[in-house]
Amino acid sequence: MKHVIYHEMGNPSDVLKLADDEQVALKSGEVRADVLASPINPSDILKVAGMYGIKPNLPEVPGGEAIGRVAEVGAGVTHLQVGQTVLLAAPGGKWRQSFVGPAAGFIPMPDGGDLQQLSMVAVNPMTALLMLRDFVELKPGDWIVQSAANSAVGTYVIQLAKKMGVKTVNIVRRESLRDDILAMGGDAVVIASEDTLTTDIQNAADGNPIRLAIDAVAGTTLTAMVEALALGGTAVSYGAMSMQPTQISVQSTIFNDVRLRGFWLAKWYETATPEQKQAAFGELIPAIMMGELKSTIAKTFTLDEIAAAVDLAGQGERGGKVMLLPNG
Ligand SMILES: NC(=O)c1ccc[n+]([C@@H]2O[C@H](COP(=O)([O-])OP(=O)(O)OC[C@H]3O[C@@H](n4cnc5c(N)ncnc54)[C@H](OP(=O)(O)O)[C@@H]3O)[C@@H](O)[C@H]2O)c1
Repeated sequence: MKHVIYHEMGNPSDVLKLADDEQVALKSGEVRADVLASPINPSDILKVAGMYGIKPNLPEVPGGEAIGRVAEVGAGVTHLQVGQTVLLAAPGGKWRQSFVGPAAGFIPMPDGGDLQQLSMVAVNPMTALLMLRDFVELKPGDWIVQSAANSAVGTYVIQLAKKMGVKTVNIVRRESLRDDILAMGGDAVVIASEDTLTTDIQNAADGNPIRLAIDAVAGTTLTAMVEALALGGTAVSYGAMSMQPTQISVQSTIFNDVRLRGFWLAKWYETATPEQKQAAFGELIPAIMMGELKSTIAKTFTLDEIAAAVDLAGQGERGGKVMLLPNG
């Protein structure tokens, strides 16, 4: 069965190799699924490059999330059937044709729905939901600001905020994205600038207090977002796409009582109760099934095309998520 593997960290298109192995017999309590779709997220690329919060256990098969179809169940597995669509939540890389793991790590999915959209539910929609929900108690009519608004997480933030009645100021790097962001439900679009970003954000919110800033860029973008917050506002840092450090002024921390928080989904999965996870998936999966929550897919690739796929996923201004279809 084909899979992608790396033996050393480095530039993903150099170190990721295609390999093949024999199908092994299932142990009691295990399940085998054909992997149908797996997105390439920045965390996958960063991990291969050795720049993520968790170091790989080499050699490793990459791929953080995927959707699959049950191909075989081991002895003692009663709640899953061959042919059932499942989210692959067990540990282990998903960029492979066939995924084996303990049955508890296969989450049954409802029939129907767009499989590529559903394959992304565990990471980016979950991140967007939790950042909107767990830091500031937002009410309809409140304003928030976010950077990288055209990213997958950013577009889920726009769609979920709209459902909550929360208004969004959306920072992007180019004017050509404005109409798309407004069409998906964003309330205002600001083009990132070094000099006027803070006032541009405040003007875009018509001078209304901004209670939450959600940032994936860091550097001067986060500085400006923090300065645009209302008294007692919260900035949540969840990515650093610019790879630049951020300076926060004491005017913001002392005189404006702004809080800077971090968010890492991996920690939430470690600490959330099964009931909390079930409730969050129970909110997101139906919204994706109904097409209320979606992300653009730039291009799909097979495993044989892994080098081109990760090269595209690492590029800026790409126009959507890159998706691997391990079984074509
Ligand atoms: N902390 C967590 O738990 C968590 C969970 C999920 C995601 N994340 C992070 O969230 C971020 C977005 O993930 P995603 O999957 O939504 O990404 P994505 O869809 O691949 O989009 C990447 C975004 O980053 C922007 N970008 C790229 N290079 C940039 C630069 N040098 N300066 C400013 N913006 C830049 C892109 O803008 P252009 O279109 O203009 O290139 C685009 O908006 C990543 O940093 C990811 O690691 C964190």
